[in-house]
Amino acid sequence: MSAESKISPQIAIILATLALAAWVFVIVRAYAPGTPKAPAVTKRAAVTPTPGAAKMPPSDQEVFDRFHTLWYGLANKTWKKNHWLGIPTRQNPMDVWVHQEIISELKPDVVLDIGTFHGGSALIWAMILDQVNPSAKVITVDIEDHTAEAKKWPLWDKKITFLHGSSTDPKIVDQIKAQVAGKKVLAILDSDHSMKHVLNELKIYSPMIPVGSYIIVQDSNSGGNPVQHGYKGPMEAIKAFLKENKEFVADKERERLIFTFCPHGYLKRTQPAQ
Ligand SMILES: C[S@@+](CC[C@H](N)C(=O)[O-])C[C@H]1O[C@@H](n2cnc3c(N)ncnc32)[C@H](O)[C@@H]1O
Repeated sequence: MSAESKISPQIAIILATLALAAWVFVIVRAYAPGTPKAPAVTKRAAVTPTPGAAKMPPSDQEVFDRFHTLWYGLANKTWKKNHWLGIPTRQNPMDVWVHQEIISELKPDVVLDIGTFHGGSALIWAMILDQVNPSAKVITVDIEDHTAEAKKWPLWDKKITFLHGSSTDPKIVDQIKAQVAGKKVLAILDSDHSMKHVLNELKIYSPMIPVGSYIIVQDSNSGGNPVQHGYKGPMEAIKAFLKENKEFVADKERERLIFTFCPHGYLKRTQPAQ
């Protein structure tokens, strides 16, 4: 450092005085009444919650409905791909279990399988009946005949009668009436799922059901229960039927496995026909 760059004592005193004055100014401004204070520093986490932290967990019902909707929506992997003994069968396995419990308990003489498709469901009921009531029969009805493969099973000839026609056609209904007179009948409705048709079937087949037995309405999960929102089908038919027919109740105990395509559809006769 050269001698010329040294600060003179006078300049040093002036600089020190200015620094002191500036420091005093800052202190006075900070503590003076009415002086706007710097905004408080807020921790970000306190005002912006972690995404999802405040969301309520879904209810059990929401979880069940979500599963049902997903499973139903994956139709080509799930229920539309179901087979029984190699025969395409449009059933929810949980409901088949419950139907099996009902058939085992009641040991009906006749199971009406309305809506044959390829004959898979008729074979299921026939196999169970063969164990619990060997003389019992299945009568199955469809407007189409796709039963060629199912008919190859020996049980078909032994226990199953296929009627080709509409379940509400008086000619078909008369044939069924003649075969079930005086018998313990269980009916399973799985044909045309429109409200009008199902309600018609309920009116036609319910008089054949004795006290303690059931008329089971399948696919009442449509119409937003919880799938196929807006569809007026089996659920609407059930409600209209139960309003007029106090001899039947929806047996909710049959929905104990929760995942069912027949919500409100296990209709049990509790009183004899008037
Ligand atoms: C959902 S599938 C039945 C599935 C069958 N129960 C199973 O589990 O594999 C519906 C069936 O109802 C039949 N169907 C439609 N309208 C009908 C009617 N008016 N009477 C009888 N069957 C009908 C269709 O041809 C179709 O095979």
